[in-house]
Amino acid sequence: MYVLGIETSCDETGVAVYHAGQGLINHLLYSQIDMHSEYGGVVPELASRDHIRKLVPLIKQVLQESHLNGIDIDGIAYTAGPGLMGALLVGAATARSLAWTWRVPAIAVHHMEGHLLAPMLEASPPEFPFVALLISGGHTLLVQVEGIGRYRLLGESLDDAAGEAFDKTAKMLGLGYPGGPKLSALAEHGKPQFKFPRPMTDRPGLDFSFSGLKTFTLNTFNASEKTEQDKADVAAAFQQAVADTLTIKCRRALQQTGLKTLVIAGGVSANKQIRASLTEMVDKENVRIYFPRLEFCTDNGAMIAYAGCQRLLAGQQQGLDIFARPRWPMSELSGF
Ligand code: KG4
Ligand code: ZN
Repeated sequence: MYVLGIETSCDETGVAVYHAGQGLINHLLYSQIDMHSEYGGVVPELASRDHIRKLVPLIKQVLQESHLNGIDIDGIAYTAGPGLMGALLVGAATARSLAWTWRVPAIAVHHMEGHLLAPMLEASPPEFPFVALLISGGHTLLVQVEGIGRYRLLGESLDDAAGEAFDKTAKMLGLGYPGGPKLSALAEHGKPQFKFPRPMTDRPGLDFSFSGLKTFTLNTFNASEKTEQDKADVAAAFQQAVADTLTIKCRRALQQTGLKTLVIAGGVSANKQIRASLTEMVDKENVRIYFPRLEFCTDNGAMIAYAGCQRLLAGQQQGLDIFARPRWPMSELSGF
């Protein structure tokens, strides 16, 4: 079964073909970063228009490079939410129309389920059950995963998502968009000599709060001599505080559930410091850890094709309506 996967929830047009038996056949990504960087962040209307321009040529290219035709495709998976409504509609309408034309089923995929299952694309994938930490631009979720669609929310961010905190902090430090990778690159030149809090770790529970950390960063920088070295040191202290906070909560989630496997996914899981801090923790806890390869941490079509393929194999599919939900709690997903 060949499944075409389409991702257009934010600022990346991702297309992939996944085969149920052979695995990932091909994937391509077009990033809108250059276009949005002029404005310091994602402009939703520009994002939608660019997806319209890029999506169909990218689908044609993926098929051509895979030596496949429309007739070979057995199902189409598209990101239906959460995300920007206009951007989602481009992917949903294109996927639904192609599925109708090719007379194949279409399946609406939850973007965060795509991220969650991205490590399954690797040669040695994790086995259920596991604890998953999903850290992206819009979400910070700790989830107990029993199987596909069988998710119990253990904790989430009460305000900014981890990626959002990176992006906003980077903006305040004048680093531009996209903030996460820029702040992380700057932090490599700094030493975390400033003392930063580890929010919400001094009380029980698995929720997060990152919005105070960005204010703390700005205040600390303003109180310093504001040299380039101060900026790098503040970035390093911020990154270390986020990494430690995520690590403390993951350890707590593993202890609470008794599970011995940890999966990390979403754009922020590309962060070296966070990967290192979590890896160090699991080594001590005798827990196995799984990350997607770097290019599948951030948005991509491969994770959507994979998630959609699993749901299609389980007999699920979407009706003829164009399904897009900017807000879509993971708890509403059906399991199998
Ligand atoms: O998963 P993703 O590509 O899109 C969403 O679903 O939101 O995540 C994007 C987020 C952005 O906030 C970006 O700044 C952050 O992931 N990010 C990083 C790094 N690479 C991407 N944050 C910290 N360090 C990185 N290396
Ligand atoms: Zn994402």
